Amino acid sequence: MAEIREIKEIPKVSETRVGFHTHIRGLGLDEKGKAIKVADGLVGQEEAREALGVVAQMVREGKMAGRGVLIVGPPGTGKTALAIGLAKELGEDTPFVALGGAEIMGSPRKSELLMQAMRRAIGVRVKEKRTVYEGVVRDLKFRVARHPLNPYVKIPREARLTLETEDDSVTLTVDEDIALQLRQLGVKRGDIIAIDADAGRVYKLGRAREEKREEGGIRLIREVNIPKGPVRKEKEVVYTISLHDLDTYFAAQQAPLSLLAGLGPESVTDEVRKQVDKMVAEWIKNGRAELVPGVLFIDDAHLLDLEVFSFLSRAMEKEFAPIIVLATNRGKAKIRGTDEVAPHGMPLDMLDRLLIVRTRPYNKDEIKEILKIRAEEEGVKVSEAALEKLAELGEQKSLRYALNLLQPAYTIARREGREEITPEDVDEAIKRFVDVKESVQYVEKFKDMFL
Ligand SMILES: Nc1ncnc2c1ncn2[C@@H]1O[C@H](COP(=O)(O)OP(=O)(O)O)[C@@H](O)[C@H]1O
Ligand SMILES: [Mg+2]
Repeated sequence: MAEIREIKEIPKVSETRVGFHTHIRGLGLDEKGKAIKVADGLVGQEEAREALGVVAQMVREGKMAGRGVLIVGPPGTGKTALAIGLAKELGEDTPFVALGGAEIMGSPRKSELLMQAMRRAIGVRVKEKRTVYEGVVRDLKFRVARHPLNPYVKIPREARLTLETEDDSVTLTVDEDIALQLRQLGVKRGDIIAIDADAGRVYKLGRAREEKREEGGIRLIREVNIPKGPVRKEKEVVYTISLHDLDTYFAAQQAPLSLLAGLGPESVTDEVRKQVDKMVAEWIKNGRAELVPGVLFIDDAHLLDLEVFSFLSRAMEKEFAPIIVLATNRGKAKIRGTDEVAPHGMPLDMLDRLLIVRTRPYNKDEIKEILKIRAEEEGVKVSEAALEKLAELGEQKSLRYALNLLQPAYTIARREGREEITPEDVDEAIKRFVDVKESVQYVEKFKDMFL
C-alpha cells in the first residue's frame, strides 16, 4: 500500500542540526521554577537554568518584547545547551536556529542571512484537517543506501512499516523523506506515531503504555492507549511551520519558472515576505493559527559589528520577533570595525536590551553526570571506573574533550571484543587523541623550526 507516496509539496519545519545536544529536553525546573539537579537532560548550572526559566515565563506573558538574552561563560559550560533548553522549555515545536558570529560576518549578504534566520526562528502553528495515518508501530524496516557524497554515511532510502490501532492494521511503504524523519525521531516498534500524509510529516505521539504486572511469576504486558478506529483517517492536526518555510513556498508558487531554473529560496523577496506576514496576520485574526516565537541563538556574539547589532535591535522590536539569545566567552573586547573597547565587544545600546545570564565551570560529579547522559544518548556502555576516569579528564582538560572520547573509546573497546568501555580503553583513546591545549602547544613548539 503506497498511498503515502501521493504527497503534496508543502513546506516543512527545517530541523537545525543539534547533534551534540540531542539529550536536552527542557530546562528541568520544578513548578516553582527551581532547577532540579538532574532533569530534562540537564545537569547542575542551576542559576542559569532558573534565570532562563524566568525568561521563558516572560516570553509566555509577552514581556520579552524589545529585549534579548546574553549568556556569558567559559567554553564548554553549556551556553548552547541552555539556549536549546530554553527553546524546548517553551514547547516541543518551538523553532531553534543557531548561527555563529564568524558565519554571519563571513557572509557576503549579512542582512539576508540574518533575515532568513529570523524567519526560520518564528513558527506559525496552524490547525487543519488532514489525512493522517496513526497507530502503534508494529513493524519497521529501512532500506538503506550510501550517502551520495559521503560513502561512510548510510541514509534510509525507503521504509516499510505496519501501523496498528485496536481495530485496524495497515502496512505502508514510505519515501526517503519520511523514512529519514522516522530515523531522526528514533521511531521504534511500540511507539505511537502519526504520519501526516498531506504534509509528509511524522509525529511521535509517545509509547504504547506498557503496564507490567507480575502474576504467578509470569510477566504480563498489557498495552493501553492504543488508538481506536481506522489507521487512515481525516483528523484535525496542528502543525508548526516557520515563516521562512512559508516564504519559500509562496515564492515558489509565484515563480515556478525560476524554481525550475534552480533559483529556489533565493527568489524570496521582501515583497513575498510582506505578503506572508499579511496572510499569517489574517490567519491569526481568524483563529486558524498562532504565532510561536522561537529562539535565534547567536554564538560568539563578540564577533559581530555595529551593522549586525543594529539589525538585531530593530528585529527585537518587530511584531513578529524570535527570542534573540547571544552567547560569548569574551570579557572586554573591541567592537568589530571600531577601536572602541566595550563589555563583550558589544555597543552599550545593545547591552541595555539584554538580560545577562552566566554559566560556570562544572565540577567532577557534574561532568560525570553529563558523560553518563551522553553515553546513554549515544548508545555507548561505560564501566563505572571508566566513567570516573573520563570525569577526571573532563575536569583537568575539558568537558568537550571527555565527551569527544566516548565514541573512540567505545570503538577501541569493541575492537577488543568488549561491549563496555573500560579504563584501559580510555587510556588508549587518550594516547591516540590529544585535547586542544595539547595540540596547540605541540604545533607552537615546532613553529620556530619552520620559520
Ligand atoms: N548542564 C549541562 N547538562 C547536560 N549537558 C550539558 C550541560 N552543559 C553542557 N552540556 C553538554 O556538553 C557539551 C558542551 O556544552 P556546550 O553547550 O557546547 O558549551 P558552550 O556552548 O558553553 O561552549 C554539549 O554536548 C552540551 O550538550
Ligand atoms: Mg557553544
